[in-house]
Amino acid sequence: MGISYGKQFISEEDIQEVVKSLSSDFLTQGPKVAEFESKFAEYIGCKYAVAVSNGTAALHLCALSVDVKEGVNVITTPITFAASANCVRYCGGNVFFCDIDPETFLIDITKLKTLIASKPKGFFSGIIPVDFAGMAVNLEEIKKIALENKLWIIEDACHAPGGYFMDSKGVKQFCGNSQFADLAIFSFHPVKHIATGEGGMITTNDKKLYEKLILLRTHGITKNEELLTKNDGGWYYEMQELGFNYRIPDVLCALGISQLKRANEGLKRRREIAKKYFDAFKNHDDIKIQPFELHSGHAFHLFIIRVSKRKELYDYLRTKNIFAQVHYIPVHTMPYYKGLGFKEGDFPVAESYYRDCLSIPMYPSLTDNDQDMVIKSILEFYGN
Ligand SMILES: Cc1ncc(COP(=O)(O)O)c(C=O)c1O
Repeated sequence: MGISYGKQFISEEDIQEVVKSLSSDFLTQGPKVAEFESKFAEYIGCKYAVAVSNGTAALHLCALSVDVKEGVNVITTPITFAASANCVRYCGGNVFFCDIDPETFLIDITKLKTLIASKPKGFFSGIIPVDFAGMAVNLEEIKKIALENKLWIIEDACHAPGGYFMDSKGVKQFCGNSQFADLAIFSFHPVKHIATGEGGMITTNDKKLYEKLILLRTHGITKNEELLTKNDGGWYYEMQELGFNYRIPDVLCALGISQLKRANEGLKRRREIAKKYFDAFKNHDDIKIQPFELHSGHAFHLFIIRVSKRKELYDYLRTKNIFAQVHYIPVHTMPYYKGLGFKEGDFPVAESYYRDCLSIPMYPSLTDNDQDMVIKSILEFYGN
């Protein structure tokens, strides 16, 4: 099968939990959904969590809950998965990209300030920063900008459950804890830290947003007697908003709960793997690495190297059955976004990053032998 850049790990205990759940009375919404939500909220350190069908659905519901609609302008980064920007388009809003920092590959805060200042006050409504590759965005700094400009923040934390940054008081601020962001989202796609196949989570500390999300997740329908405009009897429900079916099945939540138990173990292993890569490549002339030692809170969804002969190295590794990947092709260069007026050259740092980035294997079940093989093959490529 070879060694891929990322991979889920399903344990015997995970399988038993799924089997148990399959034998229960609940196939769609059951007790495992609420259990997963409360355990995830506890893990992340926030008040509320809403489990949904995938990370993209999570982004869509967040955008709806902060009222993105036609004419609403939102900023995100071009180095992310397209869904971080697409959620704005689903609601009819306009996407503005802000270039990345060349060192961290995260949204460039200085450029963010310049972009906001280049438009009249009130032009922008919100920001969607991304904890790209697992490195936490400094949301304390972004929050300052947001407060000055009355912007909401949706943190795309898909890559970083368990990741954190140190705030100005020296406190660890965990990704998605919503201390600074209004809302945060996660994905449980197989290569992510916690895998349910398809699955996602929204976290927030805002009760009003939480209640809106619960409604929107299930067609905008409620049975909550306190919210009904009338009550015809026990069967009665009302559709109060135009919502969706973005529910996640109980059985997948059973898997999520079981995976969550190993989240810290997986994170520890990711950091060990990263350290070994870092030591192997730190003095190499052609290999540049995200400066993660400055950020011990890195969650290492990805381990990215930057190399001048990226295509050649990618192809060489494939001959060794090592399947590296590229994250990401800048979103503004996608034909859909070019159709909206973006073009090559708009975000030069992101584009230069794209030309030489490569994600090499990083997942908790990567064995020492397999990692040695990856390191050896990369060094061999350079004739070392
Ligand atoms: C940064 C980022 N945002 C959003 C998503 C969308 O998540 P999903 O694939 O669960 O819809 C992903 C994952 O694929 C992602 O990596």
